[in-house]
Amino acid sequence: MFFSKKCNFAFLIFITMCGIVAYVGHQEAYPILIEGLKRLEYRGYDSAGVALLNKADQLNVYKAKGKVSDLEAKVADKDISGHIGIAHTRWATHGEPNETNAHPHLSKSGNIALIHNGIIENYLSLRKELEKRGFQFKSSTDTEVLTNLIEDVQQSEHVDLFEAVRIALNHVIGAYAIAIVEKGHPDQLIAARKGSPMVIGIGDGEYFIASDATPIVGRTQKVVYIEDEQVVRIKLGEELHIKTIQDVEAIPYVQELKMNLDSIEKAGFDHFMMKEIYEQPTIVRDTMRGRLHPEANTVRLGGIIQYEKQLLYADNIVFVACGTSWHASLVGSYMIEKLAKIRVKVEYASEFRYRDPVVTPHDVVIAVSQSGETADTLAAINLAKEKGAIVLGICNVIGSSISRATDAGIYTHAGPEIGVASTKAFTSQVTVMAMLALRLAELKGTMKDEERLEFIKELDSIPEKIQWTLDHSGHVKDIAAKYKDVRNMLYLGRLQNYPVALEGALKLKEISYIHAEGYPAAEMKHGPIALIDKDMPVVFIATNHSTYEKVISNIQEVKARDGKIIAIVSQKDVLARKMADYVIEIPETECLYSPLLATVPLQILAYYIAVMRGCNVDQPRNLAKSVTVE
Ligand code: M6R
Repeated sequence: MFFSKKCNFAFLIFITMCGIVAYVGHQEAYPILIEGLKRLEYRGYDSAGVALLNKADQLNVYKAKGKVSDLEAKVADKDISGHIGIAHTRWATHGEPNETNAHPHLSKSGNIALIHNGIIENYLSLRKELEKRGFQFKSSTDTEVLTNLIEDVQQSEHVDLFEAVRIALNHVIGAYAIAIVEKGHPDQLIAARKGSPMVIGIGDGEYFIASDATPIVGRTQKVVYIEDEQVVRIKLGEELHIKTIQDVEAIPYVQELKMNLDSIEKAGFDHFMMKEIYEQPTIVRDTMRGRLHPEANTVRLGGIIQYEKQLLYADNIVFVACGTSWHASLVGSYMIEKLAKIRVKVEYASEFRYRDPVVTPHDVVIAVSQSGETADTLAAINLAKEKGAIVLGICNVIGSSISRATDAGIYTHAGPEIGVASTKAFTSQVTVMAMLALRLAELKGTMKDEERLEFIKELDSIPEKIQWTLDHSGHVKDIAAKYKDVRNMLYLGRLQNYPVALEGALKLKEISYIHAEGYPAAEMKHGPIALIDKDMPVVFIATNHSTYEKVISNIQEVKARDGKIIAIVSQKDVLARKMADYVIEIPETECLYSPLLATVPLQILAYYIAVMRGCNVDQPRNLAKSVTVE
């Protein structure tokens, strides 16, 4: 693990994307809970709800299908008083998205209200047992079953809520992060987790609970990340009381939260995605900070130092990842093979986990993930561990499940990425890949010192080159206006620019809903060329590197068929710009680093096309930021 203690990942397969916020303290809870839910909106959800315990010991529960704003409208004339409460955004897994299935769920007696992120796999058998014991259910959810299971234990075992939760969770198979409020206990919240993240914020006379740190930022800097199979009693005036569900006391590990409020707001941009695109020069610098040392012609990656030998002598380095992280891994494979001459495989985590891959203790598996919560990637880690491989991580979110599940790793330090479309996470991951390749080359002696120094210096200059690219991308908006109504788009590139083509196409399709495909440029003649006509724009990543002439030939082939050409070219380019309908320049750089520059205008192109089509850029339809379901 690159963060802290042990974690059991056997149950990390089925986790929902819901958001949890809870509060107890001296302030009115409702505004804090609503603000927290809004900060969690990026996770994706279809209904929202809140439970508040008021001074008269009434437990008021309000729910709404749709957005947090629908919930706000609904409670406009209701009693929203109370200094303690729980709130939830739900992404439907059991039962359709409606008010009945939305959380919080009340127990049969109405004494406890519970919110839940996760899936209880054995909920049907538990439900049948409870029905035999006189419980009736209003919703189709596993969460209502869990709520009543806890109440049943509390009543039959004559124990307090903390103990009832602990005992009940021993009967549960699946994943959960839960927070509970109970009548008669206006100063206490109970929480627990397994396989689904949860963090507790410790304020001055107040406590916060959330699925991730974003609702807590700006309220306190003291946080405790709850470990799997732990139950917590959060009581005003008392220390956190943590036990495992096996009844073993645990000591809370209080850490400082490094995020600040600015980092989760839009900083004057219309959308988080654009803000994050513009953060890339800073992010890449942050990713390299303290690691890249041009003055000493070296790279130091402290997080994996004790595994450098295993990496060097690995039969294979195997990247497992999904989506954009997979594209970054593909760039990484080109870098490591070319510079350090180590065999690298790049696997979709979702395929790897099911196809019985040949992985041995002589392989090093590297899981790459922005969120650190992607279910398929976690399952791939689990499988690699079972097969005896060392598993490292490249991850953005500190304290995330992947950072805990891996033996060691490298944080990307990209800061919170709120836009569902990954942008700065990609550039930070590729930056880590470049440093890893250079470090391995240094250890293996596969590059001459002078050559390595050139590469290190060039990497050091990338933040300024990204800034230049951003400063010269104003006309990308005009290109977007020209092509915003097309139905298809093709992206072509070779070698390290092939993943750039894939990433450009993914960006466009996920936020604008235009069908787009990325291909290695030479593959065009094996099929996609049939698509080319006057209505087909083709984006070429045509930087002046080893396969430049070949890409020029591909451009000619498209031109001959009346296709429209948008070319990403190096500043000194002569040929490609003559043939293209639109040209986007990027600075000259070492060929392996061109993805760090060429991806940026493609992010901007996708952004403007999506905005012009009226799409919800930060929260595209059907997508969630952390894909924590299989
Ligand atoms: O958090 P992760 O990097 O593990 O997420 C992997 C993919 O779900 C993610 O990259 C997804 O493809 C993005 N929406 C792409 O923009």
